[in-house]
Amino acid sequence: MESIQILDAKKHVGETVQIGAWVANKRSSGKIAFLQLRDGTAYFQGIVVKSEVGEEIFQLAKNLNQETAVLVTGEIREDSRSKFGYEIGISGLEVVGESHVYPITPKEHGTDFLMDHRHLWLRSSKQHAIMQIRNEIIRATYEFFNKNGFIKIDPPILTGSAPEGTTDLFETNYFDQKAYLSQSGQLYMEAAAMAFGKVFSFGPTFRAEKSKTRRHLIEFWMIEPEMAFMHQEESLEVQEQYVAFLVQNVLDNCDYALDVLGRDREVLKKYTKLPFPRISYDDAVALLQKNGFDDIQWGDDFGSPHETFIANSFDQPVFILNYPKAIKPFYMKPHPTREDVVICADMIAPEGYGEIIGGSERAIDHEYLLEQIRAHGLDENEYSWYLDLRKYGSVPHTGFGLGLERTVTWLSGIEHVRESIPFPRLLNRIYP
Ligand code: 4AD
Ligand code: MG
Repeated sequence: MESIQILDAKKHVGETVQIGAWVANKRSSGKIAFLQLRDGTAYFQGIVVKSEVGEEIFQLAKNLNQETAVLVTGEIREDSRSKFGYEIGISGLEVVGESHVYPITPKEHGTDFLMDHRHLWLRSSKQHAIMQIRNEIIRATYEFFNKNGFIKIDPPILTGSAPEGTTDLFETNYFDQKAYLSQSGQLYMEAAAMAFGKVFSFGPTFRAEKSKTRRHLIEFWMIEPEMAFMHQEESLEVQEQYVAFLVQNVLDNCDYALDVLGRDREVLKKYTKLPFPRISYDDAVALLQKNGFDDIQWGDDFGSPHETFIANSFDQPVFILNYPKAIKPFYMKPHPTREDVVICADMIAPEGYGEIIGGSERAIDHEYLLEQIRAHGLDENEYSWYLDLRKYGSVPHTGFGLGLERTVTWLSGIEHVRESIPFPRLLNRIYP
């Protein structure tokens, strides 16, 4: 008899198979027990009929506690009433691991309680669906960049530099030196682009941000492509194609997860249409002021109410172009005809999910960059390797960073970024 994963049920209809699973829930009458089972790939029903299995197995099934691990044997059948579409008619049942008083019950629990039990909460159907979407985004990311001629490069996690400003760094001891956990691999990816042309990274990044919002994590994963011989306009095209590709793949490959999450496919389909709208920072400020946002002046950074308003003015993700130089990092390319803005863009997701991509064309002039490094109060000795890139064949180049968790949160249609990563690191939470 074959051991299978229930996800492959379609290929085994009518066959008797064995499946290792956990009991998510159950209900029973005097003659029949319905087990809600979970084998890691999907949730499905197991049916135990007393007259078929006999008294002993029936009693065992009836008394199974939530999250008991079992080996079930039985026939795979189609089940048109369930979301999943298949069930197993159980003929044999063996307990592998017992479970007593499982803390997460089908009733409602508060967020703190669930976060304290994140190691168990991951077993619930909603979390399972979110992790499937996350996995699909990861898979599709590699597919997109591989088929478009990018090579994956892994920048270091322990670094001596602070590309995104020094306020939110995690500092650690590196023997007798200071080191930081990476905020962004970008500067290393620029070196890699000069070596390999088109590159992307995909790794964890850290920000000691004292922000307690539904969009901020302390540890999050970022995809950072960097492209040599490329200007910003072309980068925006790569960005919108990449995001539309992610949405399309989630639509194509995450049917079950989208059902569990109740995500409207028609809404997602709108995000596969290209191009995405573009609005300048200047026009975005004017739009906000015209609509009663008295708190925003030219030069200010946008907060989440501003981003949400701008996003709601469009039906798709929107690029906000060319922010004030004063609120952006040192490495961005200055505008050719204006002193006050840089060549950059943030992509704002629809539906109030905020910024999912930050990117820019990079300054390539050695003297300008050195001046900026000094103006930002950074130690030029720590950046001498980076400045070297502008001495030996400096070329126009551009790149961006997409936040994985914000993208998962958006495409899943969930409330808070904390559910988009298996074990979120949040302000005041590093457990479990
Ligand atoms: O806009 P950011 O800070 O850009 C950079 O780090 C650039 N060096 C990227 C590049 O050009 N290579 O961050 C990029 C993205 C944001 O748009 C957001 O999606 C995500 O990373 N992000 C966060 N996600 C979760 N929690 C946080 N605290 C985040 N900070 C940024
Ligand atoms: Mg940003």
